[in-house]
Amino acid sequence: MTLMSAGSRIASHHITGVSLGSHKFSPTRYTVSRVRHASRGSPTLGFRFLWKCSSDRLAFSVDSTVQSDSRSGSQFDKCNTSRPHLVLVSVIESREAMMVVSSGLTVDFYKETCPSAEDVIRETVNKALQKDAGLGAGLIRMHFHDCFVRGCDASVLLDSTHANTAEKDSPPNNPSLRGFEVIDEAKRMIESKCPQTVSCADIIAFAARDSALKLGNISYSVPAGRRDGTVSSSAEAVVNIPSPSFNLTQLQDSFTSKGLSIDDMVTLSGAHSIGRAHTSNTSTVPMEPATPNTLDNLYYKQVMDHKGLFGSDNELLSSSVTAKLVSDNAKFGAVWAAKFGSAMVRMGNIGVLTGEEGEIRENCRVVN
Ligand code: HEM
Repeated sequence: MTLMSAGSRIASHHITGVSLGSHKFSPTRYTVSRVRHASRGSPTLGFRFLWKCSSDRLAFSVDSTVQSDSRSGSQFDKCNTSRPHLVLVSVIESREAMMVVSSGLTVDFYKETCPSAEDVIRETVNKALQKDAGLGAGLIRMHFHDCFVRGCDASVLLDSTHANTAEKDSPPNNPSLRGFEVIDEAKRMIESKCPQTVSCADIIAFAARDSALKLGNISYSVPAGRRDGTVSSSAEAVVNIPSPSFNLTQLQDSFTSKGLSIDDMVTLSGAHSIGRAHTSNTSTVPMEPATPNTLDNLYYKQVMDHKGLFGSDNELLSSSVTAKLVSDNAKFGAVWAAKFGSAMVRMGNIGVLTGEEGEIRENCRVVN
């Protein structure tokens, strides 16, 4: 398989076609942005191509690079057709490309400075989820709510003070956001091994990833190197976190203002297949009653049946573009799962502090 590309600027690379043997495909022109060249050797961009067979029943993905990648026809033979009828050039940074992304974050960031960090966090998360699987939903939502307010800087973890009401005490977060104790415990363990090395913002990102693995068997690498912010404001949470009463335009504006796409928005909404929602009388209902502790694509089937819990869920059917994404995600669970990991990585890049910016908090609840 060879990729034909136009434009050599790595930061905004246009893929204009894909050739497979003598076949040439012209997928929708797709722009990959926010990917910087890898530090080692020649720049390598990775993509994952999703191929659908004419039967519409099988979908699988192929990792490739911008330059070229020769693959045997065997993967395509799975389609039982000489030519898959649709190429969805979609998504995704490959493992290699994910080593360096434009935000300045890198996979294996703590390899030298705190090699056990990711293991410690995973163990802590697994232990907590064994007792209460719902905390996994809380941690995935926590990453979203952190990133949408001031970027992914752990501002959501700061406690209120006499002088300031923090994000965590704003209506979108209080009383519903949960999992703070899991982050505290992971931070406590990590501080005892590598003092003031691992940021609280990275711990949230890892904990969300570990929750997705535990509850959905969805696995992805998390670029890290985020630093912690020093400001947290309830009012900013109200302004930046989308409301369940938003219409589609408002939802789209919210996500695109953070640099995420409409596809990302629909993909990430699949997180509403887990966890709970508070009703007005302070009791709770499961977000997706059939399998409330499994991160899967049943959410999309629920939405297609107009049974999404929130107005914002059902709004996804109100444009042909988002409705098609909903129906694709309902049909192709494995494809959605791969996209979910990738979209989580993109969400985790929003407005990050790196290098000398911010600080590494000693206690995630207070600034140093
Ligand atoms: C599209 C806009 C979104 C809106 C309007 C929205 C709104 C909500 C609301 C109102 C709840 C119920 C909270 C409660 O009462 O306890 C909720 C729960 C949840 N949301 Fe969202 N959400 C959105 C997107 C997302 C995204 C992008 C993610 C993660 C990637 C996410 C993950 C979750 C999870 C996991 C829960 C269950 C939390 C728990 O059980 O503790 N949501 N959401």
